[in-house]
Amino acid sequence: MGLYMTLFLLSTLLVCASVSISGEGLSPKVGVCYGQLGNNLPNPSKSVQLIQGLRAKRVKIYDATPKILKALKGTELQVSIMVPDEIIPDIAGSQSAADQWVKKNAVPYYPDTKIRYLLVGNEMLSFGNTTTWSQVVPAMRKIRAACKKFGLQKIKVGTPLAMDVLESSFPPSNGTFRSDVSESVMKPMLRFLDRTKSFFFVDVYPYFAWSSQPSGINLDYALSDSKNLTYTDPVSGLTYTNLLDQMLDAIVFAMKKLGYPNIRLFVAETGWPSGGDVTQIGCNTYNAATYNRNAVKKFSANPPLGTPARPGVVIPAFLFALYNENQKPGPGTERHFGLLYPNGSDVYGIDLSGKTPDSAYKPLPEPTNNELYKGKVWCVVSELAKDKDVAAALSYACGQGNGTCDPIQPGGKCYKPNSLAAHAGYAFSSYWAQFKNVGGTCSFNGAAVPTAKDPSHGDCKYPSVFL
Ligand SMILES: *[C@@H]1O[C@H](CO)[C@@H](O)[C@H](O)[C@H]1NC(C)=O
Ligand SMILES: *[C@@H]1O[C@H](CO)[C@@H](O)[C@H](O)[C@H]1NC(C)=O
Ligand SMILES: *[C@@H]1O[C@H](CO)[C@@H](O)[C@H](O)[C@H]1NC(C)=O
Ligand SMILES: *[C@@H]1O[C@H](CO)[C@@H](O)[C@H](O)[C@H]1NC(C)=O
Ligand SMILES: *[C@@H]1O[C@H](CO)[C@@H](O)[C@H](O)[C@H]1NC(C)=O
Repeated sequence: MGLYMTLFLLSTLLVCASVSISGEGLSPKVGVCYGQLGNNLPNPSKSVQLIQGLRAKRVKIYDATPKILKALKGTELQVSIMVPDEIIPDIAGSQSAADQWVKKNAVPYYPDTKIRYLLVGNEMLSFGNTTTWSQVVPAMRKIRAACKKFGLQKIKVGTPLAMDVLESSFPPSNGTFRSDVSESVMKPMLRFLDRTKSFFFVDVYPYFAWSSQPSGINLDYALSDSKNLTYTDPVSGLTYTNLLDQMLDAIVFAMKKLGYPNIRLFVAETGWPSGGDVTQIGCNTYNAATYNRNAVKKFSANPPLGTPARPGVVIPAFLFALYNENQKPGPGTERHFGLLYPNGSDVYGIDLSGKTPDSAYKPLPEPTNNELYKGKVWCVVSELAKDKDVAAALSYACGQGNGTCDPIQPGGKCYKPNSLAAHAGYAFSSYWAQFKNVGGTCSFNGAAVPTAKDPSHGDCKYPSVFL
């Protein structure tokens, strides 16, 4: 009787607090994203050991690599697999294409490999053409139908979106989906997620929000490490103590505006880079360790913390990423999100179970780039670039500006060494020096990176940019 009453009261309270938000068997657990864009990464079975060594409870991969799914067999790790972007049009248009994908990529491993989430594409609404956008939800429906057909009862179907799916995220109560997707894509997607009791999977990076306006946001607030800063949303009256909660609640409010107040959040990616290019700010080991340890504390807390708009609600989460991935395109930070180096040793101590107190970790190196770099910089060839792309960028740069490439012509002061890298480095630096003040960048589609190390040699002086 006593027990019955207690249970009754508890369940009444739960129902009042969070109608359909509490999920079956969902406890606060942190996982890791196992990206594979590196040419020097450990093999799948070694990687699974490393993931277990981090005490992760879940792992997310960006495809359905058979060797990884086999290596995960029999482990306790809950697994998220992904339908690659390129085949979404096919799947959206054909139930049998969806059936085949699920039959080939999930059925052979389920249930021994604990596949629990099947994500359809990656940040699909951030790029590409509107035709593809409108195919995401039809593909999700067909993938789910396929899972049902093959009896994969425990798999939830979703799609991870980036924060750019919002046109406004501040104050959090003003969270609004972009008008180009709101009616056409988000409404049917939310309807699907609600009906199937799935999650809104979101990639949320306070790092990007802070680094795009470092003077407007307090760094400790972005690191979820401020002891005394708060922000009160003037409309909702909710008080925030960190940027991550603000960003998550912006999604909650945007969903509510479209009539879906109860869809659960799932952090499909979050993290902070431990390094980057010289022109990038705040990417260092100290900040990465601080942010990620705080994220683990938040997402593993039991009872769960939730957010100001949804206090006490579980938010499952994946940290990005397992490894520093040396072939990931984009600025240097993209290749420095790893918890581990490719040799398997940790970039800083972290325990994804949340059971290691901060005091048990070794002291962190002091942050070195919490302010924007000031000084001379040059623009040189990226280690990752392919020769043909460097040659194309060289030719483009030489066609711009005044005398951009004169010194690398035969007889010029920078002709020797007559190598693609030396000539391209000169051309990129010379281009950047002329065009930076009108918005020119040191990127050349990823063929170039900025450096603070002067590449000049002998009589050959490379033009520089002053930051
Ligand atoms: C947009 O995507 C659709 C469907 O995937 C494709 O048929 C079309 O060619 C694409 N359009 C452009 C401009 O890339
Ligand atoms: C709220 O969002 C709208 C766009 O949806 C934006 O125009 C407006 O400036 C935002 N309000 C505030 C106070 O930022
Ligand atoms: C918050 O605390 C920091 C030190 O932890 C201190 O430097 C700062 O002045 C405090 N700010 C406020 C508004 O109290
Ligand atoms: C692993 O790689 C990192 C970064 O290159 C290096 O600092 C570290 O010493 C290496 N550890 C081992 C055990 O080789
Ligand atoms: C090239 O020279 C012309 C004429 O001196 C000048 O107007 C132009 O701004 C220069 N372009 C650049 C990129 O410096």
